[in-house]
Amino acid sequence: MAKKIKWGIAGLGNIARKFAGDLKGVSQAELIGVASTDGDRAKAFQQAFDAQKAYDNYEDLYHDPNIEIIYIASLNQNHKEMTMAALQAGKGVLCEKPLGLNTAEIKEMIALAQKQNCFLMEAMWSRFNPAIQKAKQWIASGQIGEPKFLYAEFSFYRLNIDASHRLMDPKKGGGVLLDIGVYPLFLAYFILGMPKNITAQSLFAKTGVDVQTSMILEYNNAQAVLYCGIANQSDNHAKVGGTDGEILLHGFWHNAQKVELTKAGTTIQEDFSSTSKGYVPEIEEVNRCIASGKKESELWSHNDALELGRMVEQVFEKIKER
Ligand SMILES: NC(=O)c1ccc[n+]([C@@H]2O[C@H](COP(=O)([O-])OP(=O)(O)OC[C@H]3O[C@@H](n4cnc5c(N)ncnc54)[C@H](OP(=O)(O)O)[C@@H]3O)[C@@H](O)[C@H]2O)c1
Repeated sequence: MAKKIKWGIAGLGNIARKFAGDLKGVSQAELIGVASTDGDRAKAFQQAFDAQKAYDNYEDLYHDPNIEIIYIASLNQNHKEMTMAALQAGKGVLCEKPLGLNTAEIKEMIALAQKQNCFLMEAMWSRFNPAIQKAKQWIASGQIGEPKFLYAEFSFYRLNIDASHRLMDPKKGGGVLLDIGVYPLFLAYFILGMPKNITAQSLFAKTGVDVQTSMILEYNNAQAVLYCGIANQSDNHAKVGGTDGEILLHGFWHNAQKVELTKAGTTIQEDFSSTSKGYVPEIEEVNRCIASGKKESELWSHNDALELGRMVEQVFEKIKER
């Protein structure tokens, strides 16, 4: 049996719990250590997810000699500092999205990973979703002809949160573009590539963060219309229209379980609900990379994370201009 990859988790909030639940179901992974600024939270997390060790500080986790890869699950404003510290300690890093708050941060993180010869990947888990991969295969094999239009949104109602919530607080890297806007931008990038121009408009909360952002991406022969927001309920589907047909990703599309292809009056559907298990495909890709000594994933590379960061930065420039 292939050896198990030895994981650590730093920052033990909501997403760390979901991730650790999925990690438990991956036979080629084991959770060695978990670390939180709050020792009691670390102990409770250790018990809930059968980790071998609980640390009340991150540094001890980074220097645990048994750990190969650390998942950074803290708030956006801490991603760079925590990633850099783990890389300095010689650990591989899977860091929550967005990898950095801007491209300057992302470049620094990539440069240090290269200098340290350590693995680094942004946790853009939708890249590994089987339904989204199927959509990409259908497009690549010409099933919808030439792709001309992409629509994707990510929205839910959350305007009732307090100003200190991570989504509302600019000091915590808040705002919908950084939190959920990266997903529709990812899909446009994954399917259509880098746009030649982006226009965008936002509505802002009193704290100054964007709570609704609409984006239009212009390509030589296609357009993408994207939206993210916490002001409305939504079915959160995404679709790609081409000259010969259309692909629909059922909502929440960023974790799609079903994908549909419609052409010439006929619809076929593929259902991945029995195999598409949340963060599992992302974890399996990291395991494969670590096991084979790769320092970056070919499926979500350093450059992919940087290009996504560039798109986010262009949207920020546009919404600030107004
Ligand atoms: N992949 C996904 O599906 C997904 C979904 C939601 C969020 N995310 C990303 O995951 C990250 C964490 O989101 P979350 O929803 O898990 O956040 P959360 O539960 O609010 O907090 C996560 C951790 O952040 C640390 N933290 C640092 N400064 C903090 C502060 N001032 N207030 C509160 N916590 C602070 C804490 O770590 P300690 O335990 O060490 O104290 C906390 O446990 C974000 O980067 C977000 O963009 C990803």
